[in-house]
Amino acid sequence: MRFPEGFTWGTATAAFQIEGAVGEDGRGPSIWDVFTHEPGRIVDGTTADVACDHYHRVPEDVGLLADLRAQSYRFSVAWPRIVPTGSGATNPAGVAFYDRLVDALLERGIAPLVTLYHWDLPQPLQAAGGWTNRDTASHFAEYATIVGAALGDRVRTFSTFNEPWCAAYLGYSAGVHAPGITGNAAALRAVHHLNLAHGLGATALRSALPPSGQVSITLNLAHVVPDTESPEDVRAARHVDDLSNRIFLDPILRGEYPQELLDDLRHITDWSFVDDGDLATIHQPLDVLGVNYYTPTRIAAATPERLAAISRRWTNDPSSTVGPSAYPGTDLALAMPQDGPYTAMGWRIEPATLTELLVRVHRDHPGVPLMITENGAAFADEVSPDGVVHDADRIAYLHGHIGAVHAAIEQGVDVRGYFAWSLMDNFEWAWGLSRRFGLVHVDYDTLVRTPKDSYGWYRGVIADNGLA
Ligand code: FCB
Repeated sequence: MRFPEGFTWGTATAAFQIEGAVGEDGRGPSIWDVFTHEPGRIVDGTTADVACDHYHRVPEDVGLLADLRAQSYRFSVAWPRIVPTGSGATNPAGVAFYDRLVDALLERGIAPLVTLYHWDLPQPLQAAGGWTNRDTASHFAEYATIVGAALGDRVRTFSTFNEPWCAAYLGYSAGVHAPGITGNAAALRAVHHLNLAHGLGATALRSALPPSGQVSITLNLAHVVPDTESPEDVRAARHVDDLSNRIFLDPILRGEYPQELLDDLRHITDWSFVDDGDLATIHQPLDVLGVNYYTPTRIAAATPERLAAISRRWTNDPSSTVGPSAYPGTDLALAMPQDGPYTAMGWRIEPATLTELLVRVHRDHPGVPLMITENGAAFADEVSPDGVVHDADRIAYLHGHIGAVHAAIEQGVDVRGYFAWSLMDNFEWAWGLSRRFGLVHVDYDTLVRTPKDSYGWYRGVIADNGLA
């Protein structure tokens, strides 16, 4: 199973999940620093104050990428390192850190792919309302200009946002991510301001970058299946598809929100935060669309019996829809438990759904090149007595999903690359240090990195440009 010539293989991380050094060199606090220090927010009670200590270990970590023969590395820049208070003065020491990282990558022939926002909003902006405040979008554009000007001479591709779905719904509706707010109307405001920030940020990047610069955004698109073929379930699934996919895809790639979604949610909001001209601002040309994918979503119309069944099974899951929901307006829809096989996140493993999703996005938006910017799996890895991590389950997961990407390409979908999540074990948000997604094992006491079997296997995939 060979991939097209020029297909890009890489791995991905995010600043807050790996860097640590949260108080160093002038970095300001982010919403995730505050959230992780609030009692009860993180499943295992850990924080990301140290995480993988990547901030102090750039040469070693770039060495791991080089030994993997990674062609590209997707990382995020921490806004609170660059502009510690969110707006106003730039922190040169913060810029210098990413300068060094980019140079270290280029020295080893690894192309950096820079994400501007992977959820670590500067806390002072949250104090002013965070993503419910329209001004946050303008501050994001100022920050995009700073990073584009600083790194654009060496970095070709910039992505404005990682998974605005999570930032808006898990942060402002379910409340299981920072800033921990539970309000359906707030989440929809946040969605719109994130979309607006993408448009303003993309425009700012275009002016800051040389003509060869590329602008992107990464969405965690959902493959939504109705629980049954009943009209109620089919309608609920369509609603969640609108809320998960089209609420981002349609304004970004078509300059409009789906009318049925606007109508479905009028009992929550009157959408008065959408100003004239906003949709034109959001609708900017994209060079590539990043797609993150892990697991399919099964949706049913909400009934009391179904609610009870779900809460029995999912009460420990911070991403569950019990109580405050990740789907504003879920008096209509419920995410149903699914059969295994599962990863350690409880996420169903079904690679063929990735093929179906990519084919659908290509059909709906022909002409937009796609890139898998995250895909991977958590398993309960253990270092064996021989000092190695034998993660055959992760290899099987990656094998299945890389095969699914290949199947999509064979069906005519323009997929340009694949980034495994993640280079190394790291701070998995509400799950803290309790879930391991890495190709490299991290011992959080000693910070020793140990490549897992999957690392060696993935190196082979890169060398072969495909699956043997
Ligand atoms: C995605 C996030 C990433 C990581 C993976 C497991 O939603 O973008 O940071 O946590 O899930």
